[in-house]
Amino acid sequence: MTNDNRVKSDNRIKKIVVLGGGTAGWMSAAYLGRALGDTVKITVLEAPAIPKIGVGEATIANLQKVFFDFLGLPEEEWMPECNASFKMGIRFVNWRTPGAGQAQGRPHGTGKDHFDHLFGLLPEHDNLPLSHYWTHKRLNGLTDEPFDRACYPQPAVFDRKLSPRHLDGTKWASYAWHFDANLVADFLRRFATQKQGAVHIEDTFVGAEIDRRGHITSIRTEGGLTLEADLFVDCSGFRSLLINQVMKEPFLDMSDHLLNDRAVATQVPHDDEANGVEPFTSAIAMSSGWTWKIPMLGRFGTGYVYSSRFTTQDEATEEFCRMWGLDPETQYLNHVRFRVGRNRRAWVKNCVGVGLSSCFLEPLESTGIYFVYAALFQLVKNFPDKRFDPVLIDRFNSEIETMFDDTRDFIQAHFSFAPRDDTPFWRACKELELAEGFKEKVALYKSGVGVNLPVTDESNYYGNFEAEFRNFWSNANYYCVFAGLDYLPDHSLPALAHRPESIATAEAGFAEVKKRQDELLRTLPSTYDYLRRLHGK
Ligand code: FDA
Repeated sequence: MTNDNRVKSDNRIKKIVVLGGGTAGWMSAAYLGRALGDTVKITVLEAPAIPKIGVGEATIANLQKVFFDFLGLPEEEWMPECNASFKMGIRFVNWRTPGAGQAQGRPHGTGKDHFDHLFGLLPEHDNLPLSHYWTHKRLNGLTDEPFDRACYPQPAVFDRKLSPRHLDGTKWASYAWHFDANLVADFLRRFATQKQGAVHIEDTFVGAEIDRRGHITSIRTEGGLTLEADLFVDCSGFRSLLINQVMKEPFLDMSDHLLNDRAVATQVPHDDEANGVEPFTSAIAMSSGWTWKIPMLGRFGTGYVYSSRFTTQDEATEEFCRMWGLDPETQYLNHVRFRVGRNRRAWVKNCVGVGLSSCFLEPLESTGIYFVYAALFQLVKNFPDKRFDPVLIDRFNSEIETMFDDTRDFIQAHFSFAPRDDTPFWRACKELELAEGFKEKVALYKSGVGVNLPVTDESNYYGNFEAEFRNFWSNANYYCVFAGLDYLPDHSLPALAHRPESIATAEAGFAEVKKRQDELLRTLPSTYDYLRRLHGK
């Protein structure tokens, strides 16, 4: 027994080197530092002259639970340090009507061309989500109210730019955050070095030594240092210096699923006092892609994500600047190229890719930072010792593959099912083939059954990352986006026809949404007022 224990502890990983000090690098150092404590020495190597991606960024609701709570960092502590604001969902603007980039929704039917993709699960009635009763009403001509407004109080709250928290701090809705990714990396660097003992080296990676098993034994820097470790975490961004370049793991390009490969980004000053702060990300459809708008205090981050197959940098810049009234000659513009896809394996021998070095999908559903902490969660769950049991590695790799491919397919569907087909870009999106597994999910949706119906209520769902990870895009997500794009099931759930009482009493569920909405509109503070207090401004 004693002997066994000694053998096990001899095999423990004792040194980790993280290559790269962007958001992924410092998230990795802090998360692994918390998970492994002082049994492991963590060193982060970062080249100060090589910039991080660092555009204004939007996140997903589980960030606090899965990442910051794990580090013991409440929102009140990190939000003011990172100029963070709230995001209760994404407002999709002009995905149904033709035309060049325009920040406000164009006329569509009796309203405007926008719909909301919200966090949180749908209310249920008689063991079925409201989505199914809404479909029944809609397809039988009993309502023309859009899905999001019929089933959630949030869209009306968005219109008035109100907060996801009451002034006493009570939270009434699931929400995520907008923040400055460079400030987050800085904040986590201070946390990891000052509170957890991580070592920070500012120098440039130039090469690696490999042993006979093909494991990395050390990396070398321009300044002449040799950094040895048992495990290397590659957070070097799109350069993917270790996993692609040293380990030669192939990158699987997925531009046959998603066409966008460039962005032009900037920051625009904003008068919050006069105009309020929107508690949501906007995704505004453009001629050859879409533009994000990410509000933070005093400004918003924005970027046109486009496809270089269908427009040039100059054309994209012109359409983008025209939309915001910016002068392309004087405005600072950040032009970014990106690759869409993932490494065949995210973890190879003793090298794990986390962040952009591992995989990237265009930012339509704000999944980049989520992929970072989801990978860290899986890495800690499957953490190796020096024997690097392939079962752990394979398990990790298959989790990352499923996570990525599932999200890729869901994002592809936004473009495939958007009704607009006014430009070569939008027409080309319709020609792209959906993955076979995803077609089955679409068929389920069309049959009225619902995709990935959650098996638990909202607090358990969001309280248990394991459950959420396996069922990440659930019925509520599919409905928000597909019904938002006017892509409806072919018929309502056939079983509903046998439950006339449920159909009749579901009206109380819809009425409850309206009652809640009115109460929220009466009592909530503006997002601006709430954030100003939180940030002490
Ligand atoms: P990043 O490139 O930021 O960092 C790489 C690090 O490696 C840097 O510190 C660099 O110095 C270092 N490095 C490179 N070469 C080196 C060398 N030779 N030696 C030493 N160090 C070296 N995500 C999201 O959740 N929401 C969003 O809204 C968006 N929006 C978005 C828009 C666009 C256009 C892009 C391209 C990406 C996003 N993302 C996103 C993704 C998000 O930006 C990304 O996932 C995180 O910032 C993590 O980036 P990394 O740290 O992996 O790379």
